[in-house]
Amino acid sequence: MLQRIEAVAPGSTKMQALVYHQYGAPSVVELGQVARPTMGRDEVLIRVMASTVSAADWRARSLQMPPGFGFLGRLFFGVFGPRKKVLGTELSGVVEAVGSSVSRFKPGDEVFAFTGASYGCHSEWRVLPENGLLVHKPHNLSFEQAAALSFGGTAALCFLRDMGGLERGNKLLVIGASGAIGSAAIQIAKAFGAEVTGVCSTTNLELVRSLGADHVIDYTQQDFTKNGEHYDHILETTGSASFARCEGSLSEHGKLLVVLGSFAQALGLERPPRGSGKRVIASLPRVNRAHLEQLAELAEAGHYRPLIDSVHPFAEAALAHARVDTGRKRGNVVLRVGSARN
Ligand SMILES: NC(=O)c1ccc[n+]([C@@H]2O[C@H](COP(=O)([O-])OP(=O)(O)OC[C@H]3O[C@@H](n4cnc5c(N)ncnc54)[C@H](OP(=O)(O)O)[C@@H]3O)[C@@H](O)[C@H]2O)c1
Repeated sequence: MLQRIEAVAPGSTKMQALVYHQYGAPSVVELGQVARPTMGRDEVLIRVMASTVSAADWRARSLQMPPGFGFLGRLFFGVFGPRKKVLGTELSGVVEAVGSSVSRFKPGDEVFAFTGASYGCHSEWRVLPENGLLVHKPHNLSFEQAAALSFGGTAALCFLRDMGGLERGNKLLVIGASGAIGSAAIQIAKAFGAEVTGVCSTTNLELVRSLGADHVIDYTQQDFTKNGEHYDHILETTGSASFARCEGSLSEHGKLLVVLGSFAQALGLERPPRGSGKRVIASLPRVNRAHLEQLAELAEAGHYRPLIDSVHPFAEAALAHARVDTGRKRGNVVLRVGSARN
């Protein structure tokens, strides 16, 4: 259970945050007090309204890594215990104050941001550089929806468009269509004019259709590798499809876009045979502010609305983590941080 701590007094140099000091189950996350961040001249102080508990938070908290990545995970997150004590890779909020040289934002602006591997969004306040991954919140999204724009959306944009070169008319298969990345990928690919097939379980078939998928495949009933279809892109977010398994389902110049894959794939060791026009792409996404701006544009145009699995009060973060741990969440698990109305 989370420890309940008295609210931090106004003007205090402390703030409430969800902290963890050891790897483990959801219960290692506690509501505690940490130093409130101070702002530099080119920085923005944000009152956090909402954040998410993502697969990245689950991995950093539990140290459960894909096969072969265990040692690297510990090295990255902290050998003897977590280096970054406050999780949270994305947020939405309201600008409270800006540094003297800031021109893009003013107090009162509604924003969303992606901190990625820097984490730190599970806190009442977050300071970010004006020129960081921080943009204005789309007017038509609530804070809870806007908090969930970035994690799935940036991965989908980077893999599909930047690395995959997805174009209008391409045929795309999304494995893990009901997850945070898959649900974003379906909507974004449809906005780009692709023909999209989503792979999900029976319970999520209607949901995935409602996100815009042209076709759905129930992985509990049907093996997509045996349906005779060929795809220009296969986006793999579940770690269940190697190149060898997907090869026959890729078109002549088809690309397997590996969001979650094996150690061999990450090292580039899983290669199509010489002379094959097919490719395996397993690079790390390089996210920049333009990605967030494009996600905001897509949201404002009604093309992308982050799928929300559940919304949890800040003080009940352990339940949010437990939901993510199931591996069955549908879209995004949101934490409500701020008290103002969403
Ligand atoms: N490469 C990178 O840079 C990068 C970036 C971000 C995330 N990731 C990784 O990408 C993975 C996916 O992230 P996420 O946030 O999208 O995950 P997620 O939201 O936790 O995915 C959960 C969803 O996956 C579905 N699923 C599970 N097994 C499936 C299968 N065999 N076929 C189809 N659907 C299946 C589940 O649906 P059912 O319950 O219906 O099965 C559930 O809806 C994570 O492991 C994360 O660590 C990698």
